Amino acid sequence: ILWVGPQSTIYQVASATDTLISETYCEFYETKKRYEFLSRSKRRWVLNTIELEEEMDVKYPYKITKMHNLRTVGTEYEFEIKGAGVKGVFSINETSGEVYVHRRLDREKTPSYELTFDILDKKTRKTIDRDLSFDVNVKDINDNPPMFTNQFQKSYDVKENTKEGDYLPVPLTVEDIDQEGTINSTVVVTVAKQSPAVPKIGVKKVNDKLHQLVTEGCFDYDKAKHYSLVIIASDLGKPPLSSTVTVELNVIDTNSHPPQFKKRQEMQTPDDILRVAVEDKDTPNTDGWRAKYSFISGNEDGVYKITTDPVTNEGIIGVVKAKNFDITTLVKLHIGVENVEPLTVCKNGKLIKDLSSLPPKDSVSITVKMVDTNDPPVFEKLTAEVFHTEESEKGQVLYTPKVKDVESDNIRFEKLEDPANWVTVDEKTGVITTIEKMDRESPHVDVNSTYRIVIAAIDDGSPPATSTCTLTVHLRDVNDNTPMLLSKTFVLCSNHADNVTVRAKDADAEPYSGPFSFSFADGKTANKHWKIDPTYETGEEVGIVLLKKSDYGNYSVPIRIQDKQGQAMEEKLDIKVCKCDETGVCPKRTVGLGVTAIGIICAGLLAFLVLLFLLKCSLSRYTYPIKDEQYIQTLTKYNEEGPGT
Ligand SMILES: *[C@@H]1O[C@H](CO)[C@@H](O)[C@H](O)[C@H]1NC(C)=O
Ligand SMILES: *[C@@H]1O[C@H](CO)[C@@H](O)[C@H](O)[C@H]1NC(C)=O
Ligand SMILES: *[C@@H]1O[C@H](CO)[C@@H](O)[C@H](O)[C@H]1NC(C)=O
Ligand SMILES: *[C@@H]1O[C@H](CO)[C@@H](O)[C@H](O)[C@H]1NC(C)=O
Ligand SMILES: *[C@@H]1O[C@H](CO)[C@@H](O)[C@H](O)[C@H]1NC(C)=O
Repeated sequence: ILWVGPQSTIYQVASATDTLISETYCEFYETKKRYEFLSRSKRRWVLNTIELEEEMDVKYPYKITKMHNLRTVGTEYEFEIKGAGVKGVFSINETSGEVYVHRRLDREKTPSYELTFDILDKKTRKTIDRDLSFDVNVKDINDNPPMFTNQFQKSYDVKENTKEGDYLPVPLTVEDIDQEGTINSTVVVTVAKQSPAVPKIGVKKVNDKLHQLVTEGCFDYDKAKHYSLVIIASDLGKPPLSSTVTVELNVIDTNSHPPQFKKRQEMQTPDDILRVAVEDKDTPNTDGWRAKYSFISGNEDGVYKITTDPVTNEGIIGVVKAKNFDITTLVKLHIGVENVEPLTVCKNGKLIKDLSSLPPKDSVSITVKMVDTNDPPVFEKLTAEVFHTEESEKGQVLYTPKVKDVESDNIRFEKLEDPANWVTVDEKTGVITTIEKMDRESPHVDVNSTYRIVIAAIDDGSPPATSTCTLTVHLRDVNDNTPMLLSKTFVLCSNHADNVTVRAKDADAEPYSGPFSFSFADGKTANKHWKIDPTYETGEEVGIVLLKKSDYGNYSVPIRIQDKQGQAMEEKLDIKVCKCDETGVCPKRTVGLGVTAIGIICAGLLAFLVLLFLLKCSLSRYTYPIKDEQYIQTLTKYNEEGPGT
């Protein structure tokens, strides 16, 4: 409980923790020394108000108050002051209780101090009374000017077409560190000086910290390209403090001039590509200068396209779609131009808002001469098919083409493809006539019996135009080929097999080829050794069977083959009959001997061996030691009948 007496003298009467609060009563009476305070409570601190003002212009140390304690009577005591940041700033006279401040205070650094007072018994160093703590605020004065806190560039770019009220790209952040919410920190930002003066540039407060520049009119690049501003920020203190900043503005040209075609008169071009030029007073190579061309009329078919040359800003008209003009035609194109960026015009310091009062889009008319090019003759049919019998007489008309050409009546025909050189093409009419008999079996005819002829029709344009027609001739077969044997010589290993297979072929197609019928041309000779196996007939091959396996030798077998239409041909088959070895190869030497001959030879050999044996037996019975003299004696001595030597 504090009691505030006259002249703001504060008396601490009791605190909430004081147990003796119920016994406390206060009595005031006037003494010579102004107010005295009596109490039976345990606490008896008395102090005057502490008023701290920053930056006080006084002689330091400066007395700010005096402490009293009523329990000091009859004791040797000592005052003490404590608290954060107190040391060196505040002091107390130990005996008198006078409190001093030692230097200027700065509210912006330390807005308040927490002071604690103690009173001690000088001898025992014990506290006589409980300590007294409270906060003291430092009173603000207007000692800080508002400051621009953002980093300033030298200059800022602003677009010419900036609308009235739009923020310019110049943010202004201002701060005044004096006590918040008081006039000492309330800031007002204004443009103090501006050159040139039009359009007027103002300041708009966005929030307590941020201000933005705005225009109160429109820029005109042609009149002023550069602005210089002095901006002042001031607080409302008494007296006010302020600071200034200088800002440079560069006006960036935007589209304030429409492009104008350089040439008004009609233009004509025989070229594929045409250029149209414009003039624009805006800064080159900006979107306010770049031209954007468009067709107003004349390009309904989308044949033309107009693009902008990025360097010269000219319009380039080109043909993007083929269109056939049968005759040379004049095409009228109406072309308009505007800029990439929308047009804004500053008039009398205000932007023109009504679009209809802006200058109209410029346009120009161009006549393009479309020169007709030569179109080729057109065949009624690009491909045609005809049927023709092979080997038929030459001089027959195969095909008569039909051709149209809107631009020319003078068409010439030419043969492009005729590999076998069988036909001729009439130069005037294109009629295709055979000059040779056509052969279905020719190598120039494909597997499907077709022959390809290509002719061209050429007009008299310059350059001449050509188109082609392909004629496919389907050749009907006739029986112009006899059957043929695929192989005429055979080897028959009679110890392995008893027949050979003969195959035949006919170049003609059905019904002028197989199945064939086979027979021997010379019945007598062939039938002795061979027969044709009827069950083996498949139409294109036949088995020739050897009747006697032992009939080795070389045979010439005459054979006759007939195709389906009975057209026949005779051939001789060479058949070698032999006994082959295991590998199926006929030995070099032809064995012409039969089994009988071998038998006779064997019998002869046997008889000879028997004779030899008999002779040996008779000789062995009369064997003597051979001595020339005795030999004659023996012969005469025994005189026996015998076979003799
Ligand atoms: C404290 O105050 C007393 C009485 O006013 C005075 O005599 C004494 O010199 C002071 N002490 C200091 C350290 O200033
Ligand atoms: C502002 O500063 C002045 C002195 O410059 C001071 O007198 C005043 O008390 C301060 N505070 C307010 C809220 O005016
Ligand atoms: C032959 O005719 C067949 C069937 O129509 C076809 O697939 C094939 O390509 C033709 N051959 C040739 C060489 O034209
Ligand atoms: C032809 O000879 C082969 C091989 O020996 C045999 O299989 C076939 O039956 C013979 N054909 C005739 C018709 O004799
Ligand atoms: C059979 O013909 C071959 C040649 O092909 C020949 O060398 C051989 O002497 C002939 N044989 C007979 C018995 O005529």
